[in-house]
Amino acid sequence: MKIVFATHNKNKLKEVAALLPNVELLSLTDIGCTEEIPETADTLEGNAQIKANHVTEKYGYACFADDTGLLVDALNGEPGVYSARYAGEHGNAENNMDLLLKNLDGITNRKAYFKTIICLNINNEQYLFNGVCNGIILEKRQGDEGFGYDPIFKPNGYDLSFAEMNLDEKGKISHRGLAVQKLIQFLQNL
Ligand code: IMP
Repeated sequence: MKIVFATHNKNKLKEVAALLPNVELLSLTDIGCTEEIPETADTLEGNAQIKANHVTEKYGYACFADDTGLLVDALNGEPGVYSARYAGEHGNAENNMDLLLKNLDGITNRKAYFKTIICLNINNEQYLFNGVCNGIILEKRQGDEGFGYDPIFKPNGYDLSFAEMNLDEKGKISHRGLAVQKLIQFLQNL
């Protein structure tokens, strides 16, 4: 079975491929999809659907795509679907963290959660899987593993930030890890 994971991120692909031994997992690069797929929806579900639908409609493959956001209670769910570009520049994690810490300055409610949505198109059907990880936003950065908001996010029940955990530890409890586990279980039962 061939399935496209709608990403150019080799690390993400490797992580998921290791969990799916019976599937030939292809990246966007593998199928020659070099065009930027616009993530113009205002929900995580919408953006995951846009990416998966682009691949299935244009290239004819079964495909899954993910989209993730960090939702902060005291900021009414911001940055949410705009997490990657919270501070304006796409993918600038340092500026995003600085802005988030500034917007939470003096606020005692630090509750937040990461949410991942995976959209799978297969056999002319569409399926959505989600994963949530609850935690708090720390007062300052801790650790230097991971990416994005990892240094300022501490999952509930742990003394470490995501950036102080190794990939295995984070993968077991993270939003993306949980959503991927649901996807894998579904694919194994097909
Ligand atoms: P994406 O949909 O996986 O590209 O995630 C969108 C944005 O959310 C990223 O650019 C990061 O800023 C943030 N993000 C997603 N997953 C994580 C994570 O596991 N840790 C920290 N930040 C994340």
